[in-house]
Amino acid sequence: MSDYKVKFAGISMAVPEKVLTNADLEKIVDTSDEWIRTRTGMVERRISDKETPSSELAFRAVEKIFKKGKIKPKDIELIIVATVTPDYVFPSTACILQKKMGIHPIPAFDISAGCSGFIYGVTIAKQFIENGIYKTALVVGVEELTKITNWTDRGTCVLFGDGAGAAVLTRANKGEISEVIDTYISSEGKYGDLLNMPAGGSKMPASQETVKKNLHTVFMNGNKIFKIAVKSMGDAATIILERNGLSGNDLNWLITHQANLRIIDATARRLKLSPQKVIVNIEKYGNTSAASIPIAFAEAVEDGRIRRGDLVLLDAFGAGLTWGSVLLRY
Ligand code: ACO
Repeated sequence: MSDYKVKFAGISMAVPEKVLTNADLEKIVDTSDEWIRTRTGMVERRISDKETPSSELAFRAVEKIFKKGKIKPKDIELIIVATVTPDYVFPSTACILQKKMGIHPIPAFDISAGCSGFIYGVTIAKQFIENGIYKTALVVGVEELTKITNWTDRGTCVLFGDGAGAAVLTRANKGEISEVIDTYISSEGKYGDLLNMPAGGSKMPASQETVKKNLHTVFMNGNKIFKIAVKSMGDAATIILERNGLSGNDLNWLITHQANLRIIDATARRLKLSPQKVIVNIEKYGNTSAASIPIAFAEAVEDGRIRRGDLVLLDAFGAGLTWGSVLLRY
């Protein structure tokens, strides 16, 4: 039994203004709007400029929460940033974000769990709040995958977009309906080679050769990943529902990682959910990795689809390979 309950107190998102459409991509690689739409569900995505690193996009998302007035920067006691496209290898993007927020010393760190990063971040923050160590934590998913994209590889360059989503988790008061009910995370490192950035780390440091061979960009075996994604996202959703005595029928909303519309549809079918209960924005933003779930969540709260008290399931899958789910009453 945990000492305290945890809830989502605020959620927001930010994306760059510049839009890259399928038609634009037709001019870059041998692809077509028709192929991209039918194979992925994507129509356009946002691209960050050179002057805007991940920390800046993250800050824009975070500022929107504070502008609403209820939560103030000084309330934040912990910052977790989920990203595979940090400003630097070190220091962490979380520390840079803390500086931008202008707040007193608090713990701030990054986590690397690919597209599942936001789910991992919420899971970590939940522990700290439940056991009473902190009352308020900021969890950000931010990604600028277009900065590590191989623009000659049509199998990957059509997929990714940039964006940030931020959530403030706080201790819930007794009797409140809002609650993060449960989280589930898992990983399978043996599949790590199916999705990675080969160079730039300690295994293959940057050299002229690694740059020439485009090894500082995303490598992905999309076909194999697809099959594992369908299974593991379905499993993550089923496990968390079953262990809480629930089924898909009980959910008001499903928000999955936005990697491919066919993966989203397969997960919804496994839960026997009608498409009306599934939040999808892949057509606007493509795959924004760790940012995709908080962006979709924030948009659905903002436009009034998700209301206080709704039962929501978050479900993700990504590099690692990692996967996980969060069950919550908003
Ligand atoms: N335009 C036109 N044709 C293309 C394109 C393109 N952009 N990309 C691939 N093709 C071609 C291939 O060359 C292949 O042609 P061939 O049959 O002549 O060899 C054909 O289309 C089929 O290729 P597949 O790779 O089998 O296509 P698939 O239907 O699997 O779709 C995709 C590819 C969209 C990448 C899909 O596999 C997918 O979504 N995979 C999962 C991605 C994912 O979930 N990643 C994890 C998260 S990302 C992260 O963590 C950073």
